[in-house]
Amino acid sequence: MNILLATAELHPFSKTGGLADMVAALGKSLAAEGHEVGIMTPLYHGIRERFEKIEDLGYEVNVPMNGTMASGGIAVLKFKKNLTIYFVDQPAYYDRPALYGENNEEYPDNPERFIYFSKAVAHFARYYHWRPDVVHVHDWQAGLVPPMLRHADWDAPPCVMTIHNLAYPGHYSRERSFDLTNLPESAFQMHGVEFNGGLNFLKSGIVYSDAITTVSPRYAREICTEEYGCSLDGVLRDRVDRMTGILNGVDYEEWNTTKNIHLHHHYSVRSMRGKAMNKIELQHELGLPPNPDVPFFGTVTRLADQKGVDIIIGALEELLHRDIQFVLLGSGDPAIQAAYLDLQARFPDKVCSRIGFDLALSHRIEAGCDFFLMPSRFEPCGLNQMYSLRFGTIPIVRRTGGLDDSVIDIREDADNANGIKFNEFSVGALSKAMKKALALFEHKDLFQQMRKNAMNADFSWDRTCREYNEVYERVCA
Ligand code: ADP
Ligand code: GLC
Repeated sequence: MNILLATAELHPFSKTGGLADMVAALGKSLAAEGHEVGIMTPLYHGIRERFEKIEDLGYEVNVPMNGTMASGGIAVLKFKKNLTIYFVDQPAYYDRPALYGENNEEYPDNPERFIYFSKAVAHFARYYHWRPDVVHVHDWQAGLVPPMLRHADWDAPPCVMTIHNLAYPGHYSRERSFDLTNLPESAFQMHGVEFNGGLNFLKSGIVYSDAITTVSPRYAREICTEEYGCSLDGVLRDRVDRMTGILNGVDYEEWNTTKNIHLHHHYSVRSMRGKAMNKIELQHELGLPPNPDVPFFGTVTRLADQKGVDIIIGALEELLHRDIQFVLLGSGDPAIQAAYLDLQARFPDKVCSRIGFDLALSHRIEAGCDFFLMPSRFEPCGLNQMYSLRFGTIPIVRRTGGLDDSVIDIREDADNANGIKFNEFSVGALSKAMKKALALFEHKDLFQQMRKNAMNADFSWDRTCREYNEVYERVCA
């Protein structure tokens, strides 16, 4: 099949979170199976300079915008066999210091930026000589592609939408959004793109797509409930027959411990020495006292409400009188950043708070720590816990979404346990789980067994890819 994916983030070109990793890996594995895959994504600042092989396609995107015709280009990179990246080249919208905003404020014209993006995708799907059999859009930024294709005057291909995170719906006033879309007035209604008087990008994608997927089976069930549905649970329940939860895979070509360019010491289930050496080096790098025997907790995360970064601080306050170490790599909410820096100032020998985004360090934290914390309020899939498993770093997770679908607790299956799960979203429940980790750390045999189970867990893309194939076949039938 010819498959066109549309996404606002794509590793290794742009990334703020797991969306970038997931779409890159999906594209790669579909292409490896023999599909012809195109991925459309914005040409953000600096991408052209970092990837010299990017060329201009010589294709002009001509779409109405603000009452005039806005023209822009497409840049192209033949990335792998059967996999081509098409970058929407419109400097006024995308050549900025950040993807979505600066100083913790989103760019005021984000609706306009992603309306343009959606128009460019719809235009390309229609007029470029390579025609997709299916268009697969990801998250709110591409949510208007399905209605734009549906309301066009041609026989457009079927659309699949993947929800990576329902908590970011892309909801804007009609004036800032719908009025720029050029969709017919009839689309602005309850059964169309309208939601609570405004335009909701994600809802638009949900309503107009032929199939909806989300990134784990448990999250697919959760978002149909009021508790997790972010007010869209009703819309989702109406479409439940078209919805599938497909657990993300891991790109083990990138996230591995045996030939990883970011790690100084390689290791595997059979030879774990390298992991211990990575731990010592990481402690050095972070300015923590090097010590193989101290239990070392870590996390790499967006500092957002979703991630439970507040209860981590609470649990650490309870546990830092013990002999433990902790590292956080993350950025986001300024108040949370400040709280982590304060913790570091108070416990300089035990806590390191690195504020920023650092891909190489994220790999070294996965490799050097003993335990990885993901106490999320909700988690559509979560990739870090799966990376942790492969790196032999025991994940401590709250039982929600993809965390529940990917980690096995000792109470669920004593022989195959590979992590620690807790239920309640509270400081007390997390600190209890961390105390279990401390006990496990002392119990060397069990700890080794769990590490082995973790490293042997397999989230290869073959299975994930097969499930997406089934969805594509269904919508094309
Ligand atoms: P989400 O997409 O909700 O942020 P995921 O667990 O799916 O959560 O994916 C997060 C991805 O972003 C992982 O690859 C993680 O390593 C990466 N990441 C998050 N914060 C940082 C950071 N500060 N530095 C480097 N990588 C980060
Ligand atoms: C979102 C979710 C995360 C998921 C990622 C990739 O950012 O928050 O749970 O792993 O998308 O699908």
